[in-house]
Amino acid sequence: MAEETKTVLPLAKGVVPTGKLHEMRKRALEDPEGFWSEIASELYWKKGWDKVVEGEPPYFKWFVGGKTNLAYNALDRHVKTWRKNKAAIIWEGEPGETRVLTYYQLWKEVNKFANVLRDLGVKKGDRVTIYMPMVPEAAIAMLATVRIGAIHSVVFSGFSAKGLAERINDAQAKVVITADGMYRRGKKLNLKEIVDKALQETPSVESVVVYNRLGLDINMEEGRDYWWNDLMEGAETYAEPEWVESEHPSFILYTSGTTGKPKGIIHDTAGYMVGVYATMKWVFDIKDEDIHWCTADVGWITGHSYVVYGPLLHGATTLMYEGAPDYPKPDRWWSIIEKYGVSIFCTAPTAIRMFMRYGEKWVERHDLSSLRILGSVGEPINPEAWWWYFKHIGKEKCPIVDTWWQTETGHIMISPAPGIELVPLKPGSATFPLPGVDADVVDDNGNPVPPNTRGYLVIKKPWPGMLHGVWGDPERYKRTYWSKFPGWYFTGDYAMKDEDGYFWILGRADDVIKVAGHRLGTMEIESAFVAHPAVAEAAVVGKPHPVKGESIVAFIVLKEGQQPSDELREELRKWIRETIGPVATPDEIHFVTKLPKTRSGKIMRRVLRAVISGKELGDLSTLEDEASVEEVKRAVAQLR
Ligand code: PRX
Repeated sequence: MAEETKTVLPLAKGVVPTGKLHEMRKRALEDPEGFWSEIASELYWKKGWDKVVEGEPPYFKWFVGGKTNLAYNALDRHVKTWRKNKAAIIWEGEPGETRVLTYYQLWKEVNKFANVLRDLGVKKGDRVTIYMPMVPEAAIAMLATVRIGAIHSVVFSGFSAKGLAERINDAQAKVVITADGMYRRGKKLNLKEIVDKALQETPSVESVVVYNRLGLDINMEEGRDYWWNDLMEGAETYAEPEWVESEHPSFILYTSGTTGKPKGIIHDTAGYMVGVYATMKWVFDIKDEDIHWCTADVGWITGHSYVVYGPLLHGATTLMYEGAPDYPKPDRWWSIIEKYGVSIFCTAPTAIRMFMRYGEKWVERHDLSSLRILGSVGEPINPEAWWWYFKHIGKEKCPIVDTWWQTETGHIMISPAPGIELVPLKPGSATFPLPGVDADVVDDNGNPVPPNTRGYLVIKKPWPGMLHGVWGDPERYKRTYWSKFPGWYFTGDYAMKDEDGYFWILGRADDVIKVAGHRLGTMEIESAFVAHPAVAEAAVVGKPHPVKGESIVAFIVLKEGQQPSDELREELRKWIRETIGPVATPDEIHFVTKLPKTRSGKIMRRVLRAVISGKELGDLSTLEDEASVEEVKRAVAQLR
């Protein structure tokens, strides 16, 4: 094991970084121009930038005046070196097959697919929706899109036809890339059927490219749908990259917020590229010998930044696994680590908690000695899960990097940084902001809160991977992120700093919940409920869940004449799966005749949360009708 692992002191008290990390953090904030210029110079620029950062809240530009290409930096740069024949992607399918794509092979596939897209009429700035399982073609489609200066919008394959249609329409995508189907727990799911349903209401879509994963007998619409392989056969082998301006959007990624509609977060090209490149090095300490495995799906930001772009920008090897974590047995992941010698492994606390339940025996069957760094992402990690991960997966030798960030931030913001200097870790703390990230914890008036006090997590200065707007809705961008504390970015999270300056993320301060690491808006689920003909009103809250972190609990007021029943409960559950997707399936549905509201008519979700978790109800002076709370209590008691 490397020297640095000796410095892992999981519970060390009173230690603050005084070495390199501290120096770098100081320098990055004092001299952003010099600091980021040095890092950006490691990448290729068709035209150099004039200024590193420019603008005023809420709009900033990074590497102003520069021209570059994300796919060129992720592929062509390495193909010109000894890395040409190095594995870029190692893929394992759920049934167990392996595919390895070298940098040269991946580069060729991306070039050909870039030409396919051009032949379909995709131009710079056009949107391409990608709705794919975890197969290398998903990464190829993303890289090909940015190669020609088009904008990808990857939609997680767990979203329903309605969810997909909504995102295609918002982006006005010209092309959809999908597969006939995908494996999930040994079953074959038909993806194309979902796409066909979505496409009934998406007039912007001109063509659909279908990757044949399962050999299903699917509907192919003449003149609209094309098989991936047929188009690739006739494609030219080289596609000149489109040299785009630094601030040209590379992708849109939809995420949930407080209001009903998901928002398309816009990321640029250069800032995103430099931010992901830097954090990949600092947090994961990526080296040429590494096999990097981040278990996230490409449908989420983690898949974009640390499955596809981060590792490839470094010429590293990234592993993709198609299937369920515990299929066919609970040691599937550990067998993959052993089989390919994975050295950097990153996953979500939900998965760790699930494996804890299965027990160590599944882990002990495998040699995990290739691991050197473990990552945690997407939700708070409880100390119990942290310790299990540290002891049983990392064998007390691998530091755990608890990485805090968001779809909006583009890359990791607060995290240990073993690639710079490993600080003593405290289970449950993401430690310190990375260099260039000016994070703070403040009260409602924007004043920093004292140590160990809860406040709002804000970012006071621009950072390279920052979002550049909400697609088609500049007002929402300003309102959501830049209005609570004018001039600063509001993260939507609660946090605190301890007496040593360590950051502790305490969960969302808004109506967003994290279910098994997936981000969902409670109001998005409520609007889906009230769209059902039997429902008059709905209130959705998150309930602490031992494995998933949070689960979805809904309180439903039915329309006049509707009777509560178990059948209706099942129907509503199915309705949510169909309108949003299986990710949003509620665990509990309670029927009530009224919801607890304030006198001004606002639903008191705080009261609902307290009832379902058996906590003190707190101040009820603004409550309109006490009987509503009693009814909620009875409904909850009845169903358990
Ligand atoms: O509440 C925070 C939580 O996940 C939110 C962002 O979700 P999403 O955009 O889906 O991105 C997830 C992948 C980066 C945050 O606002 N979150 C993320 N990482 C952590 C976390 N909560 C606690 N600890 C973390 N390490």
